[in-house]
Amino acid sequence: VIDAICSRRSVRQGFTPATVAAEAIDDILRCGLAAPSSKNAQPWRLHVITDRHLNRDLAAAVAHAKGRDSYVPIDPRTGRPRQGMVSTVTESAAILEQAALAIYVESYFSFSGGREALANATAANRRSALVGFALDMIGIGATIENMWLAAESHGLSGVFMGDVMIAEETISRRLGIKGDLVGVLALGRSDRAEIPPKSLAEGRVVLHS
Ligand SMILES: Cc1cc2nc3c(=O)[nH]c(=O)nc-3n(C[C@H](O)[C@H](O)[C@H](O)COP(=O)(O)O)c2cc1C
Repeated sequence: VIDAICSRRSVRQGFTPATVAAEAIDDILRCGLAAPSSKNAQPWRLHVITDRHLNRDLAAAVAHAKGRDSYVPIDPRTGRPRQGMVSTVTESAAILEQAALAIYVESYFSFSGGREALANATAANRRSALVGFALDMIGIGATIENMWLAAESHGLSGVFMGDVMIAEETISRRLGIKGDLVGVLALGRSDRAEIPPKSLAEGRVVLHS
């Protein structure tokens, strides 16, 4: 487990046309569904795409989405794009197109009510609504990481991409997503050389012993 965690990297190149074995998909989903979540809400629904045509259609929706060149996180205090960030939508769409397996993650059975409920929360409720929303997202993060690690242990690689949110409307319509789209875990077999471990940010652990 420790080796898998420490060697996992985002892989964006070298995908071969190989399909993903059904047993690997089963394991990936089983591990995703086993993730911890606040109040055991299991606030996810996983949309599994192995159909190359559907995958390409969704990748094309991302590639041609309006505003793709300026799609970066905004600073909520100003509404302006975060400085120094550049859009990666075009690159993300190209990666998605090559994925043999794409798992779109929907946040649905959330106790926080999702983005709409959060956006409509009164000022008095907003802080606690945000806490609930964040807790739901932490569970969603756990399901994504579990699936990613299970994929690694089957010799698969890939990357999770939030960029697909730019085409949320189209993707949700095609996949019957009723809740919030969170992103996609794009996986496949890659013949890219192993990516070395990354340097880890300093000062992120404070020991109080
Ligand atoms: C929530 C989240 C969203 C991400 N969205 C994207 C994305 O849209 N496109 C992309 O290429 N990578 C995306 N990534 C991958 C990150 O860029 C990557 O995890 C980070 O640079 C650290 O590299 P590593 O995964 O190799 O450790 C995302 C990762 C996370 C966890």
